[in-house]
Amino acid sequence: MYESHFGLSDKPFKLSPDPRFFFSSPHHEKAASYLKYGLSQGEGFIVITGPIGTGKTTIARSLVASLDESIVAVQIATTRLTPEELVRLVAAKFDIQVEGLGKAEILKRLEQYLLKLHQQQRRALLIVDEAQNLPPETVEELRMLSNFQLDDKPLIQSFLLGQEELKGIIELPEMEQFRQRIIASCHLKPFDCEQTCNYIHHRLRQVGWQGKPSLCENIFEIITKHSQGIPRKINILTDRLFLYAYLEDLTAIKAVDVHHVLEEMQSELSGSMMPSSRRKGEDDESPVSQENTSLHILAAQGESHAAQTLEAVSEILDTVIDRKISTIRHLDKLLRQKRKSLSELGTTLHDETILESDELDNEKNNSALQKKYWCRELMAKKSSYHN
Ligand SMILES: Nc1ncnc2c1ncn2[C@@H]1O[C@H](COP(=O)(O)OP(=O)(O)OP(=O)(O)O)[C@@H](O)[C@H]1O
Ligand SMILES: [Mg+2]
Repeated sequence: MYESHFGLSDKPFKLSPDPRFFFSSPHHEKAASYLKYGLSQGEGFIVITGPIGTGKTTIARSLVASLDESIVAVQIATTRLTPEELVRLVAAKFDIQVEGLGKAEILKRLEQYLLKLHQQQRRALLIVDEAQNLPPETVEELRMLSNFQLDDKPLIQSFLLGQEELKGIIELPEMEQFRQRIIASCHLKPFDCEQTCNYIHHRLRQVGWQGKPSLCENIFEIITKHSQGIPRKINILTDRLFLYAYLEDLTAIKAVDVHHVLEEMQSELSGSMMPSSRRKGEDDESPVSQENTSLHILAAQGESHAAQTLEAVSEILDTVIDRKISTIRHLDKLLRQKRKSLSELGTTLHDETILESDELDNEKNNSALQKKYWCRELMAKKSSYHN
């Protein structure tokens, strides 16, 4: 919404894990290197863990974006799945027909598919996101999948990404066989103040930021403190700061602005800046976790379509709001001009009178505008300035 006003080519603080914006903090760099190392080895599991919103999915997406055609990568992000549901979902992701088939038949088809890939000098990579939701027996099923081999080389390799609870699952005594196949693991940490500052500047550079609005040095400490250094929270807060700067016509974002926006956000329902509270087991009660396999498969197939639709709706809403703000600005300007000319004449009039005056009669949609709630709010705000 504020992009064109500040001369930016795109939204700098989107919530989607877009590989174009990937920022290599030391932890992210290490995790990305481990994934690449795992790929070069062609076998064994790589496990990346980290608190909510620290960038696990972003790392996976940026890895997938860097792959060439020799690797067929699929990504699953699921709630709880039984071993059979996992097998079904994985096969469906590789476009294997699974309807009406039992687990044994699906596994057979999956193996045939992997062998065909091998003949084409290609191999399969399975990225399991949100792996903390998988029950231990389903993680064990992943190990079984790695037993599809030819000439002692696995035909499919898996990377696991998940929140901190995933560590607990892997440390269970019955996961010993799985543990022995992990070739590297690492844990993402939130950003410190310097990294937060570099992260924000990095994202802004990707969209051609030329220092408009400028960012005062002392805001980064406040942003780090209130976001706990979690990239997703940093995005939410900084996005709001830019919106605020746009609405208030600021040329610089200062500490006082950050405090103002934080205050506003704290009174909102989203709770986006509250400390993270999602815990293991909470998902168990969600209706999503009770979905059956076919729903998971449908979800997997439909998720990219849904994401595209949401993106499109969000763009339309942005444009509408953008237009409304321009109109408000225009009205604001007219009011200021009118007030100035009236004060020069030594007359004081209320805003309602000004709106009804000749100048605004020229506006095509004047009467329609006055019915709009935001127009009335503007009027109320303007009147309160003068009372
Ligand atoms: N290294 C990074 N570079 C650029 N953006 C990042 C990075 N890490 C996180 N982000 C941003 O932070 C947000 C959250 O990232 P992401 O969805 O990857 O986190 P996550 O760890 O997978 O979260 P969850 O635990 O909820 O699955 C996204 O908007 C993403 O763009
Ligand atoms: Mg994620």
